[in-house]
Amino acid sequence: MIFIANWKMYLPFDETISLATKNLDAFNKLAQLPNTTIIIAPTIPTTYTLTQIFKTTKIQWAAQDCSEHIIGAFTGQISAETIKTVGCSACIIGHHERRKYNGETNQTISRKLEALLEANLSPIICIGEETNPGTLGATLQVLEEQLTSLCSILKKYTLKYPELTHAIAYEPAWAIGSGNVPDNVYLENIFSWITTFLQKTCPATNVNLLYGGSISSKNILLFKNTKFLNGFLIGKASTDFQEFEKIVKNSILE
Ligand code: PGA
Repeated sequence: MIFIANWKMYLPFDETISLATKNLDAFNKLAQLPNTTIIIAPTIPTTYTLTQIFKTTKIQWAAQDCSEHIIGAFTGQISAETIKTVGCSACIIGHHERRKYNGETNQTISRKLEALLEANLSPIICIGEETNPGTLGATLQVLEEQLTSLCSILKKYTLKYPELTHAIAYEPAWAIGSGNVPDNVYLENIFSWITTFLQKTCPATNVNLLYGGSISSKNILLFKNTKFLNGFLIGKASTDFQEFEKIVKNSILE
C-alpha cells in the first residue's frame, strides 16, 4: 500500500523539520513494512533539508504542485526540474485546493502533467467532483472530463518512460477536510470505472489508485478490503505522526 502524507501548508518551517526529524527512525520503520511505500509531501522550502537528512532512509518525497512551464519568466513558480533536484521523485497535481483557490483547469493540469513527465517525475494526479453531484453517473461524467486529456498524455509518455509509476488519487471535494468519507461500494464503483477507463485509454500505463479525503486511523478500517485500491492520500491526519502511524498500521496489519 502507498501512503502519501500531504502536509499542505499546515506547519511552519521549523515544525515541518521537527515533525520529520523527530520521527525519522519511526518513519523509516513504517517504510520498511512489507509492501509499504511512504511518500511525504512537505512545503518545497523544507524539502531539500529533509531529503538530505533522510538520504539513507526508504522515505520518498513529493512536491505539492509544480509549474506547467519548463523554465523562464514565471515569478513564484517552481519547475519540475527543481522539484527533482531538491530530492522529490513525485509531485501532486490537480489537487482540489489548487483547482479551487488557484483556478487550475483540466488544461492547466494536463500541461503540468506533461512538465512532470518530461522531467521523469511520478505524477500523483488528483481527480474528484467539486460538489456532490448526487448520482454516480454525474460523478463519472466529471471524472471522465478530468481524465480524458490526462490519459492521452500518460499514453504518450508510457512509450518514453515505461518504468514510471503514476498515481491517480480520487478525492471528492466534499470529503476533503470534512470528516465525511464515501462508502466502500461507492468507492469500488468509482475505482472499477477508472480501471476500465484506463484500460481503454492508456492500457500499458502503470497506475496506482488512491483514495483521499478525511482519512483517519478509525475510518481507514472501512477501506481495508476495498477492491482496486492501492493506497491513500492523507492530509490533516498526516501532520500528527502517531495518527499517521496508526493509519498505516491499521490498514496493513491484521
Ligand atoms: P484531508 O486532506 O485528509 O485533510 O481531508 C486530503 C487531501 O486534501 O489530500
